[in-house]
Amino acid sequence: MPIIISASLLAADFSRLGEEVGRAEASGADWLHFDVMDGTFVPNISFGEPVLAGIKDILTIPTDVHLMIREPVRYIGHYAALGAKIITIHYEAAADPIDTLKQIRSLGCLAGISIKPATPVEVIQPLLPFVDLILIMTVEPGFGGQSIITETFDKIRCARRLADACGKKIYIQVDGGINEKTARCAVQSGADVLVSGSFLFGAKDMAANIAKLKQA
Ligand code: DX5
Ligand code: ZN
Repeated sequence: MPIIISASLLAADFSRLGEEVGRAEASGADWLHFDVMDGTFVPNISFGEPVLAGIKDILTIPTDVHLMIREPVRYIGHYAALGAKIITIHYEAAADPIDTLKQIRSLGCLAGISIKPATPVEVIQPLLPFVDLILIMTVEPGFGGQSIITETFDKIRCARRLADACGKKIYIQVDGGINEKTARCAVQSGADVLVSGSFLFGAKDMAANIAKLKQA
């Protein structure tokens, strides 16, 4: 299966957002990863609906929304209406993850569940029938440009085993500290969607770095 590259807009130059989206698309990014932070679930605030509204009409690749916000059920309808293809919530942030995942699907989106580095993968088991994507955070969510936590590779392997035992397609996504070296370990552990921010937007030749990730 080909590796999917989801370019994390958090690392883009916000003074030229439209051009940065175009650069990611022209460089071969498969999805655009859109990190929404609320300053509560994570200690940082990024961007939200007005920014997605501003770029959605120039986007030609699917939007992969990563909600790092408390009680994400409050906002999933807003992001679905803005054309999100995938909406991922955090297990730790949702009072009723199953109901939230069901609602994401009923809005016509793929439903993703994410766990922080300290959360055991086993919590995902009861959610599997309602999940299209598992996001294993490979750094503490909240900031771009961090180094990968290598202890999370075991969790990727475990998520892959859980997903394969389901008998249906579930993407295994990783996010945080992904570059050409760490991508190889993530893919060997079972990841098939690589989120990458600084390694892509920080590159002079983004296409070359996307190609490196795809070959990982
Ligand atoms: C971190 C975000 C990531 C971030 C990744 O909380 O979820 O998507 O942009 O950035 P890099 O690839 O720079 O680690
Ligand atoms: Zn993210």
